[in-house]
Amino acid sequence: MDKFVIRGGNPLGGTIRISGAKNSALPCMAAAILTEDEITLENIPQVRDIETERRLLASMGAVVELREGEARDRTTICCHTLSDPLAKYEIVKTMRASSLVLGPLIARAGMARVAMPGGCAIGGRPIDLHIKGLEKMGATIAQEHGYLEARAERLRGTRLVFDKITVTGTEDLLMAAVLAEGETEMLNCAREPEVADLAALLTAMGAKIEGAGTSTIRVQGVSRLHGARHRIIPDRIEAGTYLIAGAMTGGDLTITGCDPSHLGAVIAKLEEAGARVEIQGPDAVRVRGGGKLRAADISTEEYPGFPTDMQAQYMALATQAEGVSLVKENIFENRFMHVQELVRMGANIKVDGSTATVRGPSPLSAAAVMCSDLRASASLVLAALVADGESIVDRIYHMDRGYERIEEKLRSVGAQIQRVGNFFPSGNR
Ligand code: UD1
Repeated sequence: MDKFVIRGGNPLGGTIRISGAKNSALPCMAAAILTEDEITLENIPQVRDIETERRLLASMGAVVELREGEARDRTTICCHTLSDPLAKYEIVKTMRASSLVLGPLIARAGMARVAMPGGCAIGGRPIDLHIKGLEKMGATIAQEHGYLEARAERLRGTRLVFDKITVTGTEDLLMAAVLAEGETEMLNCAREPEVADLAALLTAMGAKIEGAGTSTIRVQGVSRLHGARHRIIPDRIEAGTYLIAGAMTGGDLTITGCDPSHLGAVIAKLEEAGARVEIQGPDAVRVRGGGKLRAADISTEEYPGFPTDMQAQYMALATQAEGVSLVKENIFENRFMHVQELVRMGANIKVDGSTATVRGPSPLSAAAVMCSDLRASASLVLAALVADGESIVDRIYHMDRGYERIEEKLRSVGAQIQRVGNFFPSGNR
């Protein structure tokens, strides 16, 4: 199992280029199921979740073309024949976003067999709202042997009101609605930029969608969609993670290839915490640390609020800020797995229910720590970048799910970080 060895203490300086958004690429790849024609996607990040989705689509009969060299971030998917509309547990268990194929499979093939996603480190992550919406559109869904069996002749447009805002739920039902008969009105939708990006691809494929990116989406169903080419939006969570790295290490970092308009909540909080942030044109943001960081509270919300996917990284920064920062997690019930590891490095953090109280600044000392999920891993890497000495961050396969070449990107701006294989037996911390 790979680990990172990180020697802390270097302020980061220079430029980091942001990759395409994993959370946009995943639904866009699933959208290829909706047409017999070719879908070409650009700015696809080279991360493990994307590989898993490629395997998932290929296992259903899709032809997934990979590019090498310069064009590695481009992929062409052709679902001309869907020989097997089945999402196997062996694949689904490693990537929860696999539930995104449910809506497109029913819409295209009239049936789907999708393994129920299991529990996950950050909470239960049910898909009841996906199921409820698809049933309202006329699908019959049964559950047996750990699989969902769904059928529908042709889905019908209807009025859907989400009981709770769900990102992949909105995306899944949007993909179902584009081929449904008649109009679908979706209320209380997620407003994340990734939903709008998926809608842009679907529109390029011939779908009729209004309001994506707002809480009400209207879809006029069409009988057929065609091929398209689409460029995935930049990853706002990757960008936010590097902005925090720049601020925390007292560095001077410019993040390019990003969309500053998607980073509003994170930039506002960094400024409140004392970092100097400058938007430099349509795709670049510069962050400068160096001054004293001040405590600032965060409360995770749906977009455009502060993203839950940035909470763990922000907490690493809060350990270096003067005063008491309250970190409230409102989206997932068990998303404080990084806390104990940060405490092992010397942070002063107390958790009470969904609120963590961080008292800072605490000098962090290097330690061997263990990643528990994707964003928790990022938090530990950030902490290690300011810790005194050499930290070992273990189980970085979590990180590889969502950050492209993180060690190369960090090294290029002055971090001391190495990826190494297993050099002592697991359990030895
Ligand atoms: C997506 C993102 C993930 C991010 C999350 C919240 C992808 C691939 N993943 O996950 O990185 O952390 O949004 O911004 O885009 N819920 C239900 N029933 C459902 C669906 C969700 O109760 O059917 C609940 C969840 O348990 C959670 C909340 O709704 O408490 C939000 O979850 P949701 O937005 O669906 O998260 P994901 O789409 O899985």
